[in-house]
Amino acid sequence: MRNLWLGLVCIILFACSSGNNNTPVAKSASKKASPKEVKVNGEMVYKKHCMECHQENGEGVPNIYPTLQNAEWVGADKDHLIEIIINGMTKEIVVNGIAYEDEMPKADYLTNKEISAVLTYIRKNFAKINDPISEVDVARTRIRIKSKK
Ligand code: HEC
Repeated sequence: MRNLWLGLVCIILFACSSGNNNTPVAKSASKKASPKEVKVNGEMVYKKHCMECHQENGEGVPNIYPTLQNAEWVGADKDHLIEIIINGMTKEIVVNGIAYEDEMPKADYLTNKEISAVLTYIRKNFAKINDPISEVDVARTRIRIKSKK
């Protein structure tokens, strides 16, 4: 009988000690922000900010949204191309013989990095031009536009 009691006390003590979890648990190593810079993907920027009008493959919609599959505007002067994105476009233009007069909204809220990535993407993929546009190019155009105003 005495052994039974002892056994019971042991069981209760054991149950309590294991249930009462006071042992400090090593805190999992806090996640540090990666020191690597965030990579901006030109294709992602294009899909988010340009594709609804210019379409997935850049072909546009005849008479409404001009194609980007040409070297006339996309391959022209970098500074001019960057300005189209920052200021948008309102004047009538002719692309591959078709006139467009709809307005392209300005996208000056995009960062220099996003603009350089998206323009490098459309030039390479829609106009076969392998000459990247850099963040510095975009920064330069922003300064020029500002000083013009
Ligand atoms: C709301 C629709 C719309 C969006 C969004 C838009 N565009 Fe445009 N885009 C237009 C229209 C319309 C024109 C023609 C403007 C005109 O006739 O003045 C144009 C013209 C252009 C041109 C010069 C003409 C050509 O076809 O080469 C380029 C380059 C261009 N857009 C690139 C872009 C890029 C890059 C983005 C995303 C950052 C973008 N567009 C977002 C509607 C849009």
